[in-house]
Amino acid sequence: MEDKRTSGRLNVLLLGSGGRESAMAWKLSCSPHLELLFIAPGNGGTEQYGTNVPDLNIKDFEAVGRFVIQHGIDLLVVGPEDPLVEGIADYFEERRELFPHLLVVGPNASGARLEGSKDFSKAFMMRNQIPTALYQSFAADERAEALAFLETLRPPYVLKADGLAAGKGVLIVPTIEEAANAFNDLAEGTWGSKGQRIVIEEFLQGIECSVFVATDGKDYKILPVAKDYKRVGDGDTGPNTGGMGSVSPVPFVDDAFMKKVTERIVEPTLQGLQKEGISYKGFIFLGLMNVEGNPYVIEYNCRLGDPETEVVMLRIESDFLLLLKSMANGSLKEYQLEEDPRTAVSVMLVSRGYPGSYIKGYEMILPEPTFETQLFHAGTAITDGKLVTSGGRVLAVSSYGNSLEEALNRSYTVAQQVLFEGKNYRHDIGKDLLLDS
Ligand code: AMP
Ligand code: GLY
Repeated sequence: MEDKRTSGRLNVLLLGSGGRESAMAWKLSCSPHLELLFIAPGNGGTEQYGTNVPDLNIKDFEAVGRFVIQHGIDLLVVGPEDPLVEGIADYFEERRELFPHLLVVGPNASGARLEGSKDFSKAFMMRNQIPTALYQSFAADERAEALAFLETLRPPYVLKADGLAAGKGVLIVPTIEEAANAFNDLAEGTWGSKGQRIVIEEFLQGIECSVFVATDGKDYKILPVAKDYKRVGDGDTGPNTGGMGSVSPVPFVDDAFMKKVTERIVEPTLQGLQKEGISYKGFIFLGLMNVEGNPYVIEYNCRLGDPETEVVMLRIESDFLLLLKSMANGSLKEYQLEEDPRTAVSVMLVSRGYPGSYIKGYEMILPEPTFETQLFHAGTAITDGKLVTSGGRVLAVSSYGNSLEEALNRSYTVAQQVLFEGKNYRHDIGKDLLLDS
Protein backbone atom coordinates (compact mmCIF):
# COMPACT_ATOMS: atom_id res chain seq x y z
CA MET A 1 0.00 0.00 0.00
CA GLU A 2 1.16 3.53 -0.81
CA ASP A 3 2.44 5.46 2.20
CA LYS A 4 0.00 8.19 3.23
CA ARG A 5 2.85 10.63 3.93
CA THR A 6 4.05 10.35 0.37
CA SER A 7 0.60 10.03 -1.17
CA GLY A 8 -0.48 13.35 0.42
CA ARG A 9 -3.89 11.92 1.21
CA LEU A 10 -5.58 13.28 4.32
CA ASN A 11 -7.20 11.81 7.40
CA VAL A 12 -10.31 13.86 8.12
CA LEU A 13 -12.41 14.18 11.27
CA LEU A 14 -15.85 15.68 10.59
CA LEU A 15 -17.87 16.76 13.64
CA GLY A 16 -21.66 16.51 13.57
CA SER A 17 -24.54 14.13 13.05
CA GLY A 18 -27.12 15.75 10.78
CA GLY A 19 -28.11 15.73 7.13
CA ARG A 20 -25.53 18.48 6.58
CA GLU A 21 -22.73 16.24 7.81
CA SER A 22 -24.04 13.29 5.78
CA ALA A 23 -23.88 15.40 2.63
CA MET A 24 -20.39 16.67 3.50
CA ALA A 25 -19.23 13.12 4.28
CA TRP A 26 -20.60 11.87 0.95
CA LYS A 27 -18.79 14.59 -0.96
CA LEU A 28 -15.55 14.04 0.99
CA SER A 29 -15.75 10.32 0.28
CA CYS A 30 -15.72 11.14 -3.46
CA SER A 31 -12.30 12.81 -3.16
CA PRO A 32 -9.18 10.95 -4.34
CA HIS A 33 -7.26 13.01 -1.76
CA LEU A 34 -9.05 11.34 1.18
CA GLU A 35 -7.26 8.64 3.17
CA LEU A 36 -9.58 8.05 6.16
CA LEU A 37 -12.80 9.81 7.13
CA PHE A 38 -14.18 9.76 10.67
CA ILE A 39 -17.56 11.27 11.52
CA ALA A 40 -18.21 12.09 15.18
CA PRO A 41 -20.72 11.15 16.31
CA GLY A 42 -22.25 10.47 12.87
CA ASN A 43 -25.62 8.83 12.29
CA GLY A 44 -27.21 5.71 10.84
CA GLY A 45 -26.14 6.62 7.31
CA THR A 46 -22.72 8.21 7.61
CA GLU A 47 -20.93 4.88 7.98
CA GLN A 48 -21.40 4.46 4.21
CA TYR A 49 -18.76 7.14 3.77
CA GLY A 50 -16.36 6.58 6.65
CA THR A 51 -16.14 5.46 10.27
CA ASN A 52 -18.57 6.75 12.89
CA VAL A 53 -17.23 7.73 16.30
CA PRO A 54 -20.45 7.58 18.31
CA ASP A 55 -18.86 8.04 21.73
CA LEU A 56 -16.86 11.18 21.02
CA ASN A 57 -18.45 14.21 22.69
CA ILE A 58 -17.74 17.00 20.22
CA LYS A 59 -18.00 19.65 22.93
CA ASP A 60 -15.26 17.95 24.94
CA PHE A 61 -12.28 19.51 23.17
CA GLU A 62 -9.71 17.48 25.09
CA ALA A 63 -11.38 14.29 23.94
CA VAL A 64 -11.44 15.58 20.36
CA GLY A 65 -7.72 16.43 20.73
CA ARG A 66 -6.91 12.93 21.96
CA PHE A 67 -8.75 11.46 18.97
CA VAL A 68 -6.85 13.74 16.59
CA ILE A 69 -3.53 12.50 17.96
CA GLN A 70 -4.52 8.82 18.16
CA HIS A 71 -5.81 8.70 14.59
CA GLY A 72 -3.32 11.02 12.90
CA ILE A 73 -6.01 13.49 11.84
CA ASP A 74 -4.79 16.07 9.31
CA LEU A 75 -7.99 18.06 8.86
CA LEU A 76 -10.71 18.82 11.41
CA VAL A 77 -14.01 20.04 9.98
CA VAL A 78 -16.63 21.42 12.36
CA GLY A 79 -20.22 21.02 11.09
CA PRO A 80 -22.48 22.59 13.76
CA GLU A 81 -22.23 25.98 15.48
CA ASP A 82 -22.06 25.01 19.16
CA PRO A 83 -18.43 23.84 19.31
CA LEU A 84 -17.39 26.89 17.26
CA VAL A 85 -19.18 29.34 19.53
CA GLU A 86 -17.58 27.54 22.48
CA GLY A 87 -14.10 27.97 20.98
CA ILE A 88 -13.03 24.66 19.45
CA ALA A 89 -10.88 26.43 16.83
CA ASP A 90 -9.19 28.49 19.57
CA TYR A 91 -8.54 25.33 21.58
CA PHE A 92 -6.42 23.85 18.78
CA GLU A 93 -4.81 27.17 17.82
CA GLU A 94 -3.66 27.71 21.41
CA ARG A 95 -2.05 24.25 21.46
CA ARG A 96 -0.13 24.43 18.19
CA GLU A 97 2.84 22.60 19.73
CA LEU A 98 0.64 19.56 20.40
CA PHE A 99 -1.05 19.69 16.99
CA PRO A 100 1.60 21.23 14.73
CA HIS A 101 0.18 19.99 11.42
CA LEU A 102 -3.54 19.97 12.15
CA LEU A 103 -5.68 22.04 9.79
CA VAL A 104 -9.01 23.28 11.16
CA VAL A 105 -12.04 24.47 9.17
CA GLY A 106 -14.21 26.69 11.35
CA PRO A 107 -13.83 30.18 12.82
CA ASN A 108 -12.52 31.11 16.24
CA ALA A 109 -15.05 32.00 18.95
CA SER A 110 -14.60 35.68 18.09
CA GLY A 111 -15.77 35.00 14.50
CA ALA A 112 -18.48 32.57 15.58
CA ARG A 113 -20.07 35.45 17.49
CA LEU A 114 -21.55 36.46 14.13
CA GLU A 115 -23.99 33.64 14.87
CA GLY A 116 -23.63 33.30 18.64
CA SER A 117 -24.73 36.85 19.45
CA LYS A 118 -27.39 38.71 17.48
CA ASP A 119 -26.51 41.87 19.38
CA PHE A 120 -22.90 41.54 18.18
CA SER A 121 -23.83 40.68 14.60
CA LYS A 122 -26.29 43.58 14.26
CA ALA A 123 -23.72 46.04 15.67
CA PHE A 124 -21.08 44.55 13.32
CA MET A 125 -23.35 45.17 10.34
CA MET A 126 -24.01 48.73 11.44
CA ARG A 127 -20.28 49.44 11.93
CA ASN A 128 -19.55 48.09 8.47
CA GLN A 129 -22.55 49.59 6.65
CA ILE A 130 -23.93 46.19 5.68
CA PRO A 131 -27.61 46.30 4.74
CA THR A 132 -29.82 44.76 7.43
CA ALA A 133 -33.13 45.50 9.14
CA LEU A 134 -33.12 48.61 11.33
CA TYR A 135 -32.85 47.57 14.99
CA GLN A 136 -32.20 48.35 18.62
CA SER A 137 -31.11 46.02 21.37
CA PHE A 138 -32.27 46.09 24.98
CA ALA A 139 -31.31 44.61 28.31
CA ALA A 140 -33.96 42.30 29.79
CA ASP A 141 -35.00 45.03 32.28
CA GLU A 142 -35.35 47.79 29.65
CA ARG A 143 -38.99 47.02 28.94
CA ALA A 144 -40.17 50.62 28.79
CA GLU A 145 -37.43 51.56 26.33
CA ALA A 146 -38.24 48.50 24.23
CA LEU A 147 -41.94 49.41 24.13
CA ALA A 148 -41.09 52.95 23.07
CA PHE A 149 -38.98 51.58 20.19
CA LEU A 150 -41.74 49.14 19.18
CA GLU A 151 -44.13 52.12 18.91
CA THR A 152 -41.89 53.57 16.19
CA LEU A 153 -42.08 50.39 14.04
CA ARG A 154 -44.81 49.09 11.80
CA PRO A 155 -46.29 45.60 12.37
CA PRO A 156 -45.45 42.76 12.32
CA TYR A 157 -42.83 43.03 15.08
CA VAL A 158 -39.64 40.97 15.14
CA LEU A 159 -37.98 40.12 18.49
CA LYS A 160 -34.89 37.97 18.86
CA ALA A 161 -33.02 36.35 21.71
CA ASP A 162 -29.38 37.44 21.71
CA GLY A 163 -27.75 34.00 22.02
CA LEU A 164 -28.02 30.61 20.32
CA ALA A 165 -31.54 29.28 20.70
CA ALA A 166 -31.60 26.38 18.23
CA GLY A 167 -33.82 28.27 15.79
CA LYS A 168 -36.44 29.08 18.45
CA GLY A 169 -35.20 32.53 19.45
CA VAL A 170 -37.05 34.57 16.82
CA LEU A 171 -40.61 35.76 17.49
CA ILE A 172 -42.65 37.53 14.82
CA VAL A 173 -45.97 38.87 16.13
CA PRO A 174 -48.74 41.02 14.64
CA THR A 175 -49.61 43.44 17.48
CA ILE A 176 -47.84 45.67 20.02
CA GLU A 177 -49.53 43.74 22.87
CA GLU A 178 -48.11 40.45 21.63
CA ALA A 179 -44.74 42.12 21.09
CA ALA A 180 -44.75 43.26 24.72
CA ASN A 181 -45.57 39.70 25.83
CA ALA A 182 -42.87 38.33 23.54
CA PHE A 183 -40.38 40.72 25.17
CA ASN A 184 -41.36 39.36 28.59
CA ASP A 185 -40.99 35.76 27.41
CA LEU A 186 -37.53 36.43 25.99
CA ALA A 187 -36.48 38.35 29.12
CA GLU A 188 -37.66 35.45 31.29
CA GLY A 189 -35.67 32.97 29.23
CA THR A 190 -38.64 31.03 27.78
CA TRP A 191 -36.45 31.05 24.64
CA GLY A 192 -32.72 31.38 25.14
CA SER A 193 -31.35 32.29 28.54
CA LYS A 194 -32.95 34.37 31.30
CA GLY A 195 -31.75 37.96 31.41
CA GLN A 196 -30.27 37.88 27.89
CA ARG A 197 -30.25 40.96 25.67
CA ILE A 198 -33.13 41.24 23.24
CA VAL A 199 -32.92 42.55 19.69
CA ILE A 200 -36.00 44.22 18.21
CA GLU A 201 -35.96 44.92 14.49
CA GLU A 202 -37.94 46.11 11.53
CA PHE A 203 -39.79 43.42 9.56
CA LEU A 204 -38.41 42.94 6.05
CA GLN A 205 -40.86 41.89 3.36
CA GLY A 206 -39.32 39.75 0.65
CA ILE A 207 -38.10 36.31 -0.32
CA GLU A 208 -35.19 34.59 1.41
CA CYS A 209 -32.13 32.76 0.13
CA SER A 210 -28.99 31.30 1.69
CA VAL A 211 -25.53 32.28 0.46
CA PHE A 212 -22.51 30.37 1.77
CA VAL A 213 -19.13 32.03 1.60
CA ALA A 214 -15.99 29.94 2.04
CA THR A 215 -13.03 31.97 3.28
CA ASP A 216 -9.45 31.46 4.40
CA GLY A 217 -9.44 34.88 6.05
CA LYS A 218 -8.11 36.62 2.93
CA ASP A 219 -9.85 35.29 -0.16
CA TYR A 220 -13.31 33.89 -0.63
CA LYS A 221 -15.45 31.71 -2.88
CA ILE A 222 -19.23 31.87 -3.02
CA LEU A 223 -20.83 28.42 -3.12
CA PRO A 224 -23.94 27.64 -5.19
CA VAL A 225 -26.86 29.64 -3.78
CA ALA A 226 -29.76 27.76 -2.17
CA LYS A 227 -33.16 28.44 -0.70
CA ASP A 228 -34.59 26.54 2.24
CA TYR A 229 -38.16 26.05 3.42
CA LYS A 230 -38.44 26.66 7.14
CA ARG A 231 -42.09 26.21 8.14
CA VAL A 232 -43.29 22.69 8.79
CA GLY A 233 -46.47 22.86 6.70
CA ASP A 234 -47.34 23.24 3.03
CA GLY A 235 -47.81 26.83 1.94
CA ASP A 236 -45.36 28.05 4.63
CA THR A 237 -47.73 27.30 7.49
CA GLY A 238 -47.14 26.04 11.03
CA PRO A 239 -44.10 26.44 13.25
CA ASN A 240 -40.52 27.09 12.15
CA THR A 241 -38.22 24.11 11.79
CA GLY A 242 -34.53 23.76 11.03
CA GLY A 243 -35.60 23.34 7.41
CA MET A 244 -37.98 21.06 5.51
CA GLY A 245 -36.35 21.17 2.10
CA SER A 246 -34.05 23.12 -0.18
CA VAL A 247 -33.42 24.03 -3.79
CA SER A 248 -30.35 25.18 -5.73
CA PRO A 249 -29.95 27.20 -7.91
CA VAL A 250 -32.51 29.83 -6.96
CA PRO A 251 -34.17 31.31 -10.06
CA PHE A 252 -34.55 34.85 -8.66
CA VAL A 253 -30.86 35.02 -7.75
CA ASP A 254 -29.36 36.40 -10.94
CA ASP A 255 -25.99 38.02 -11.72
CA ALA A 256 -27.26 41.51 -10.88
CA PHE A 257 -28.46 40.36 -7.44
CA MET A 258 -25.21 38.48 -6.76
CA LYS A 259 -23.19 41.55 -7.72
CA LYS A 260 -25.04 43.47 -5.00
CA VAL A 261 -24.53 40.60 -2.53
CA THR A 262 -20.81 40.59 -3.27
CA GLU A 263 -20.28 44.35 -3.16
CA ARG A 264 -22.65 45.26 -0.35
CA ILE A 265 -22.38 42.22 1.89
CA VAL A 266 -19.64 39.65 1.23
CA GLU A 267 -16.71 42.04 0.79
CA PRO A 268 -17.68 44.46 3.59
CA THR A 269 -18.19 41.46 5.90
CA LEU A 270 -14.73 40.07 5.19
CA GLN A 271 -13.13 43.50 5.41
CA GLY A 272 -14.98 44.16 8.67
CA LEU A 273 -13.68 40.90 10.15
CA GLN A 274 -10.11 41.75 9.12
CA LYS A 275 -10.40 45.29 10.45
CA GLU A 276 -11.63 43.96 13.78
CA GLY A 277 -8.74 41.51 13.99
CA ILE A 278 -10.94 38.42 13.61
CA SER A 279 -9.17 35.75 11.58
CA TYR A 280 -11.88 33.66 9.97
CA LYS A 281 -11.19 30.30 8.30
CA GLY A 282 -14.50 28.70 7.65
CA PHE A 283 -17.92 29.23 6.20
CA ILE A 284 -20.02 32.35 6.59
CA PHE A 285 -23.70 31.66 6.00
CA LEU A 286 -25.61 34.74 4.90
CA GLY A 287 -29.35 34.40 5.47
CA LEU A 288 -30.56 37.03 3.01
CA MET A 289 -33.86 38.71 2.28
CA ASN A 290 -34.38 39.92 -1.28
CA VAL A 291 -36.37 43.12 -0.83
CA GLU A 292 -37.36 44.35 -4.29
CA GLY A 293 -34.06 43.24 -5.81
CA ASN A 294 -31.88 44.43 -2.93
CA PRO A 295 -30.23 41.99 -0.51
CA TYR A 296 -30.46 42.49 3.28
CA VAL A 297 -28.83 40.28 5.90
CA ILE A 298 -31.41 38.60 8.13
CA GLU A 299 -28.76 36.65 9.97
CA TYR A 300 -25.21 35.37 9.82
CA ASN A 301 -24.30 31.82 10.75
CA CYS A 302 -20.77 30.55 11.28
CA ARG A 303 -21.35 27.21 9.53
CA LEU A 304 -23.14 25.70 6.57
CA GLY A 305 -26.94 25.44 6.59
CA ASP A 306 -29.05 22.34 6.85
CA PRO A 307 -30.76 21.28 4.53
CA GLU A 308 -29.11 23.75 2.12
CA THR A 309 -25.82 21.79 2.31
CA GLU A 310 -27.59 18.72 0.96
CA VAL A 311 -28.20 20.53 -2.35
CA VAL A 312 -25.00 22.60 -2.30
CA MET A 313 -22.88 19.42 -2.05
CA LEU A 314 -24.69 17.98 -5.07
CA ARG A 315 -23.89 21.13 -7.01
CA ILE A 316 -20.19 21.43 -6.17
CA GLU A 317 -18.39 19.63 -8.95
CA SER A 318 -14.81 20.35 -7.87
CA ASP A 319 -13.06 18.52 -5.03
CA PHE A 320 -14.63 19.46 -1.68
CA LEU A 321 -11.75 18.13 0.39
CA LEU A 322 -9.34 20.40 -1.47
CA LEU A 323 -11.72 23.32 -0.88
CA LEU A 324 -11.66 22.64 2.88
CA LYS A 325 -7.89 22.18 2.90
CA SER A 326 -7.32 25.44 1.03
CA MET A 327 -9.63 27.30 3.45
CA ALA A 328 -7.66 26.00 6.40
CA ASN A 329 -4.14 26.51 4.98
CA GLY A 330 -4.74 29.89 3.39
CA SER A 331 -4.48 28.89 -0.27
CA LEU A 332 -8.10 29.44 -1.29
CA LYS A 333 -7.06 31.86 -4.01
CA GLU A 334 -5.67 28.96 -6.06
CA TYR A 335 -8.74 26.76 -5.64
CA GLN A 336 -10.98 26.48 -8.70
CA LEU A 337 -14.60 26.11 -7.61
CA GLU A 338 -16.64 24.31 -10.25
CA GLU A 339 -20.40 24.05 -10.17
CA ASP A 340 -22.67 21.40 -11.59
CA PRO A 341 -25.13 23.20 -13.86
CA ARG A 342 -28.00 20.89 -12.93
CA THR A 343 -30.71 21.71 -10.39
CA ALA A 344 -30.66 20.01 -7.00
CA VAL A 345 -33.60 19.58 -4.64
CA SER A 346 -33.79 18.12 -1.16
CA VAL A 347 -37.03 17.02 0.49
CA MET A 348 -36.72 16.42 4.22
CA LEU A 349 -38.65 13.48 5.62
CA VAL A 350 -39.48 14.18 9.26
CA SER A 351 -41.08 12.41 12.21
CA ARG A 352 -44.77 13.14 12.81
CA GLY A 353 -44.98 15.82 15.52
CA TYR A 354 -41.69 17.56 14.61
CA PRO A 355 -40.77 20.34 15.44
CA GLY A 356 -42.75 19.52 18.59
CA SER A 357 -42.46 16.15 20.34
CA TYR A 358 -42.31 12.95 18.33
CA ILE A 359 -41.63 9.25 18.79
CA LYS A 360 -38.24 7.78 17.86
CA GLY A 361 -37.12 4.27 17.11
CA TYR A 362 -39.35 3.34 14.16
CA GLU A 363 -37.80 0.89 11.75
CA MET A 364 -37.01 2.26 8.29
CA ILE A 365 -36.99 0.71 4.83
CA LEU A 366 -35.06 2.57 2.13
CA PRO A 367 -34.91 2.13 -1.63
CA GLU A 368 -31.47 1.71 -3.24
CA PRO A 369 -29.76 5.07 -3.93
CA THR A 370 -29.28 6.01 -7.58
CA PHE A 371 -26.90 8.38 -9.36
CA GLU A 372 -29.70 10.92 -9.47
CA THR A 373 -30.86 10.67 -5.86
CA GLN A 374 -28.82 10.57 -2.67
CA LEU A 375 -30.40 9.66 0.64
CA PHE A 376 -28.67 11.86 3.21
CA HIS A 377 -29.43 10.54 6.68
CA ALA A 378 -30.19 13.08 9.41
CA GLY A 379 -32.04 11.61 12.42
CA THR A 380 -31.31 7.91 11.95
CA ALA A 381 -29.45 5.29 13.96
CA ILE A 382 -28.61 1.62 13.70
CA THR A 383 -30.04 -0.29 16.65
CA ASP A 384 -29.63 -4.07 16.89
CA GLY A 385 -28.54 -4.09 13.26
CA LYS A 386 -31.68 -2.28 12.10
CA LEU A 387 -31.99 1.23 10.69
CA VAL A 388 -34.39 3.26 12.86
CA THR A 389 -35.54 6.87 13.20
CA SER A 390 -33.73 8.78 15.93
CA GLY A 391 -34.61 12.44 15.39
CA GLY A 392 -37.12 14.96 14.09
CA ARG A 393 -35.52 15.48 10.73
CA VAL A 394 -34.90 11.94 9.52
CA LEU A 395 -33.78 11.77 5.90
CA ALA A 396 -32.98 14.36 3.21
CA VAL A 397 -34.01 12.93 -0.16
CA SER A 398 -31.73 14.87 -2.47
CA SER A 399 -31.90 14.71 -6.27
CA TYR A 400 -30.42 16.17 -9.40
CA GLY A 401 -32.53 17.18 -12.37
CA ASN A 402 -32.04 18.89 -15.68
CA SER A 403 -34.88 21.13 -14.54
CA LEU A 404 -36.37 21.98 -11.17
CA GLU A 405 -39.41 19.94 -12.13
CA GLU A 406 -37.33 16.86 -12.91
CA ALA A 407 -35.37 17.13 -9.64
CA LEU A 408 -38.62 17.55 -7.67
CA ASN A 409 -40.23 14.57 -9.39
CA ARG A 410 -37.28 12.38 -8.52
CA SER A 411 -37.16 13.42 -4.87
CA TYR A 412 -40.92 13.07 -4.40
CA THR A 413 -40.96 9.63 -6.06
CA VAL A 414 -38.24 8.41 -3.69
CA ALA A 415 -39.88 10.17 -0.72
CA GLN A 416 -42.89 7.90 -1.27
CA GLN A 417 -40.69 4.79 -1.45
CA VAL A 418 -39.02 5.45 1.91
CA LEU A 419 -41.03 3.74 4.61
CA PHE A 420 -41.24 4.49 8.30
CA GLU A 421 -44.06 5.02 10.77
CA GLY A 422 -45.09 8.67 11.12
CA LYS A 423 -43.29 9.86 7.98
CA ASN A 424 -44.18 13.47 7.20
CA TYR A 425 -42.91 15.91 4.60
CA ARG A 426 -43.85 19.06 2.75
CA HIS A 427 -45.40 18.54 -0.66
CA ASP A 428 -44.62 21.98 -2.05
CA ILE A 429 -40.83 22.31 -1.90
CA GLY A 430 -39.69 24.45 -4.83
CA LYS A 431 -43.25 24.97 -6.11
CA ASP A 432 -43.04 28.75 -5.57
CA LEU A 433 -40.00 28.81 -7.87
CA LEU A 434 -41.41 26.66 -10.67
CA LEU A 435 -42.98 29.56 -12.53
CA ASP A 436 -39.67 31.47 -12.58
CA SER A 437 -37.41 28.59 -13.58
P1 AMP B 1 -33.17 34.00 12.13
O1 AMP B 1 -33.00 32.96 13.20
O2 AMP B 1 -32.63 35.35 12.48
O3 AMP B 1 -32.77 33.50 10.77
O4 AMP B 1 -34.74 34.16 11.93
C1 AMP B 1 -35.55 33.06 11.59
C2 AMP B 1 -36.49 33.45 10.50
O5 AMP B 1 -37.32 34.53 10.92
C3 AMP B 1 -35.78 33.97 9.26
O6 AMP B 1 -35.37 32.97 8.42
C4 AMP B 1 -36.88 34.80 8.64
O7 AMP B 1 -37.80 33.97 7.96
C5 AMP B 1 -37.58 35.39 9.84
N1 AMP B 1 -37.05 36.73 10.13
C6 AMP B 1 -36.05 37.03 10.98
N2 AMP B 1 -35.82 38.34 11.01
C7 AMP B 1 -36.71 38.92 10.15
C8 AMP B 1 -36.97 40.27 9.74
N3 AMP B 1 -36.29 41.29 10.22
N4 AMP B 1 -37.94 40.46 8.82
C9 AMP B 1 -38.63 39.40 8.33
N5 AMP B 1 -38.45 38.13 8.69
C10 AMP B 1 -37.49 37.87 9.58
N1 GLY C 1 -31.57 25.95 7.18
C1 GLY C 1 -31.19 27.01 8.01
C2 GLY C 1 -30.08 26.73 8.95
O1 GLY C 1 -29.33 25.80 8.80
O2 GLY C 1 -29.93 27.49 9.91
